[in-house]
Amino acid sequence: MLRTIEYRDGKVYIIDQTKLPTVNEIIAIETVEECFDAIKKLKVRGAPAIGIAAAYGVVLGIADLKEIDFDSFYKELKKVTEYLSSSRPTAVNLFWALNRMEKKALENKEKPVEEIKKILENEAISIQREDEEICRKIGENGAHVLKDGSTVLTHCNAGVLATSKYGTALAPIYFAKEKGWNIKVFADETRPLLQGARLTAFELNEASVDVTLITDNMAAMVMAKGWIDVVIVGCDRVAANGDVANKIGTYGVALLAKAHNIPFYIAGPTTTIDLNTATGEDIVIEERDREEIICGFGKQTAPSDVKVFNPAFDVTPHELIAGIITEKGIVRAPYDINLKKLFD
Ligand code: MRU
Repeated sequence: MLRTIEYRDGKVYIIDQTKLPTVNEIIAIETVEECFDAIKKLKVRGAPAIGIAAAYGVVLGIADLKEIDFDSFYKELKKVTEYLSSSRPTAVNLFWALNRMEKKALENKEKPVEEIKKILENEAISIQREDEEICRKIGENGAHVLKDGSTVLTHCNAGVLATSKYGTALAPIYFAKEKGWNIKVFADETRPLLQGARLTAFELNEASVDVTLITDNMAAMVMAKGWIDVVIVGCDRVAANGDVANKIGTYGVALLAKAHNIPFYIAGPTTTIDLNTATGEDIVIEERDREEIICGFGKQTAPSDVKVFNPAFDVTPHELIAGIITEKGIVRAPYDINLKKLFD
């Protein structure tokens, strides 16, 4: 299986996902600025992977701090976390991981700063290891919505490349494959940055999963033909009422699934559930550069002065969601009550 992110000898190694699928290049990240840049430019992307990268970014950002008393060290640490938190606004895992790092530092404030740095390095490693275990459980739980012979439609990339291993939406597919089930996948290409075409098609191909790539505007036809048994997608933030922000286009896929009576599932770790965000309306949606739409991957496809709207995510209302597959089980409506129970 691919290794999306690896920490070794004080450096973070990631697959540069902007170059996939033609070039599979691993790059070393050595500074917090490089980490910020990798997250912002989607060299590392997908909610859980962003959280893991940010945790390592903290480790890089504090490594050379000279402060020896806790208060001045913590002030500098906060500058690092604030900087990293400004890289992308929507995926809550980023903020979750940075908060966890800050909290760990505070819990150990009586210890010497050099020891706290080591503790934080171990905390980042734990965040990554836990994510692997969580994704494995999502796979196990999500396999209950599949059976041998099922065909799944997915949008964007919520696979190995978006996490430390297995993925979220793709984890049930890998799990089912391990059981010897024959599962087919239709992958939406996912305009404008083609995470479905460049990443999902790539990683499923690498894993010898039967995957068919379609453009986003083909999903309705494929559903109408009766070829899709279930839709599973990932998530960037789940609000307390069950509304879900995920890659732009997800809402449309959910509406299509509803129209064709196909169950529409979200898969994600509990670290993507944000009970402090009441509804989807409160989720900040990232807007990205106009160039991604008029000049994707260097080829101009629209007049350079045309008006452009480029939101990276949309919100799917909870009414359209059959269930949210987490490491703790599948949560179903009423989401406002049942999501809360996960944290009791
Ligand atoms: O802009 P991206 O590529 O980071 O968007 C990724 C998604 O929308 C994924 O579906 C989501 O983060 C879940 S990843 C397990």
